[in-house]
Amino acid sequence: MKKEATYVDLLPELSNLLSESDDPIATLANASALIKQSFPLFSWVGFYLLKKGALVLGPFQGPPACVSIQVGRGVCGTSFAKKETIVVEDVRTFPGHIACDSRSLSEIVVPLKKNGAIVGVLDIDSHELATFDAVDRRYLEMAVAIIADHLTTV
Ligand code: SME
Repeated sequence: MKKEATYVDLLPELSNLLSESDDPIATLANASALIKQSFPLFSWVGFYLLKKGALVLGPFQGPPACVSIQVGRGVCGTSFAKKETIVVEDVRTFPGHIACDSRSLSEIVVPLKKNGAIVGVLDIDSHELATFDAVDRRYLEMAVAIIADHLTTV
């Protein structure tokens, strides 16, 4: 199935799934599980959440990952600091990329905004180059908006 069609199915499914819980950990855990199982190329899907000035590992699916990332560091910290989505076709060309999994080759990070404030990021890795493009950016920003709507506090 084309990537876009997968996203079109994913968004209402995400909304339905998340309406079952008002617990932030359950919400983020189920969101990462649903997104990861929808796309076989996604090797790691998860959240980093702002805690005491740093981005701390939250619910995720995939191999164990770095626990804490400074704002402004790596793809996650840069996306958070700039308040914008970052698509990296080849992580080896991104200055300061943090390699939690040495097999990761491409990545997308989408800021998680709640009531106008950025509270964390959604991070997705792939073991293949250039997995993410403008289609992923568009739909993952919509997915993150749905996730934020279902978050109480994190
Ligand atoms: N590569 C990220 C670190 C997080 S892991 O990919 C899960 C970065 O450079 O911020």
